[in-house]
Amino acid sequence: MATLTEELNEWLDEGRERVARLPLEPRVEQIGRVLQVGDGVATVQGLPETRLDELLIFEGGFMGLAVDLGEDAIGCVLLGGASAIPSGSIVHGTGEVARVPVGEALLGRIVDALGVPLDGGGPLETASFAPVEQPAPAIVDRSLVTRPLATGLLVIDAMIPLGRGQRELIIGDRSTGKTAIAVDTIVNQRTSDVICIYAAVGQKASSVVQVIEAVRRYGAPERCLFVIGEANAPPGLQWLTPYAACSMAEYFVERGRDVLLVIDDLTKHAAAYRQLSLLLRRPPGREAYPGDIFYIHARLLERAAKLSPGRGGGSLTALPIAETQAGNISAYIPTNLISITDGQIYLDPRLFYEDQKPAVDVGKSVSRVGGKTQAPVLKALSESLRLEYAQFLELEVFTRFGTMVDERTRKVIEHGRRIRAALAQRQFEPLPLGEEVALLCALGDGVLDSLPLDRVAAFREALGPWLREKMPEIPALNDEAPPLPDETRARLKHALAALAHSLAAPKGEGP
Ligand SMILES: Nc1ncnc2c1ncn2[C@@H]1O[C@H](COP(=O)(O)OP(=O)(O)OP(=O)(O)O)[C@@H](O)[C@H]1O
Ligand SMILES: [Mg+2]
Repeated sequence: MATLTEELNEWLDEGRERVARLPLEPRVEQIGRVLQVGDGVATVQGLPETRLDELLIFEGGFMGLAVDLGEDAIGCVLLGGASAIPSGSIVHGTGEVARVPVGEALLGRIVDALGVPLDGGGPLETASFAPVEQPAPAIVDRSLVTRPLATGLLVIDAMIPLGRGQRELIIGDRSTGKTAIAVDTIVNQRTSDVICIYAAVGQKASSVVQVIEAVRRYGAPERCLFVIGEANAPPGLQWLTPYAACSMAEYFVERGRDVLLVIDDLTKHAAAYRQLSLLLRRPPGREAYPGDIFYIHARLLERAAKLSPGRGGGSLTALPIAETQAGNISAYIPTNLISITDGQIYLDPRLFYEDQKPAVDVGKSVSRVGGKTQAPVLKALSESLRLEYAQFLELEVFTRFGTMVDERTRKVIEHGRRIRAALAQRQFEPLPLGEEVALLCALGDGVLDSLPLDRVAAFREALGPWLREKMPEIPALNDEAPPLPDETRARLKHALAALAHSLAAPKGEGP
């Protein structure tokens, strides 16, 4: 029986052996020190091997991005903890650029620009990571935008149609319904297979909550992702948000899916970047924005694309939002964004106050790609609409002064008023394609002209159930449906006229 001393010796020998096996090589670790810190940026000395956009780790685990590599110091954008990092503290390099988690597990979640969950729904179960900054697909990897992306808003789908893979700017003064258009488009995807990502940059937390609530209530939240860099977040994190959201979107695009990315909004993104740049003492240019402000937005929006069949055929549609001051679309950031995107939806505050919502100014809005992708059945019906509406708007100005008008002009005006009433739509009530087609038929065939103006909204509301009962082939229409044959159109006109007739009766006697 071994004595206690023997046992102890055995145990000590084992310990000595283990220590002998330990690799006792010298380890070289580069560290830097914080020179200056404040307002979301820090200057770091040391770390001579740092690469551009490398992630640095500060004391306390806070992260920052190396964005300015000087001879003596590194300018760093902090992604958190600006007030908790002491000057003189130690900084470590990571040798890696900022990366975010990507994967199916993100769907239905709310995360920040680093992929940290904000919804209290537990950690993300995803094994893949992607760099925040990625090069845009090359020309050979792209193909033409061919499929429409339905917004469910008649004014857009008929006159400023969007295609999958397009970049369309939503622009307008504050509180003119910009976010509402983007949210309605997301809500409308409940009937499609499009994955929706909403990236909030510099938005009030209360606005973000409203958007999330709306999508949860009316849309398909299990196919949506919210990437939030709200107004209280460090400016570095706000700046990173759209790039991170884009990388998260690209995961799905590369797997052949169609993704819609809303960026709300790039004006606040530009402001966050201006703040960081000025603090990093970069020379200010026009409107105090740094010289590369165009590049940072172009680099982001170029990543939206329709991929070629060889790359899986997925698409990333970008709907960036920009805010104007007093309708000035020729300010620096709006003109930049207009020139980067494939068109813009311009929202007019005057229309908004006149209660014409969505307040889209059709004259100043354009979609440079989407027209080619519009569903043929919708295209055939909406061709004359834009012209008729523009004519009406011009003529209406005259009648404002009480001018006597001839019978023909009066008819154009009455017809135009009905177009305008048909284009007005409440929030969260996107129209399915079939109802858009029926409404355009009703306008084109003059069915609505016999209806009192204040009954047009009721007509639109009654349309869905009426069509399902009388002409179920109309609600069954899809993107690829050819223009309506004459016979179907005649029957549809007949059915719509009957509906209009029943609604024209005094209130309470409708169907
Ligand atoms: N089609 C609509 N019908 C009724 N109300 C609407 C419609 N569109 C927007 N609104 C209302 O108008 C208000 C402003 O809309 P929204 O927040 O979308 O504007 P915004 O341009 O994004 O504003 P901000 O500049 O603050 O971001 C909201 O209260 C919204 O509910
Ligand atoms: Mg908004």
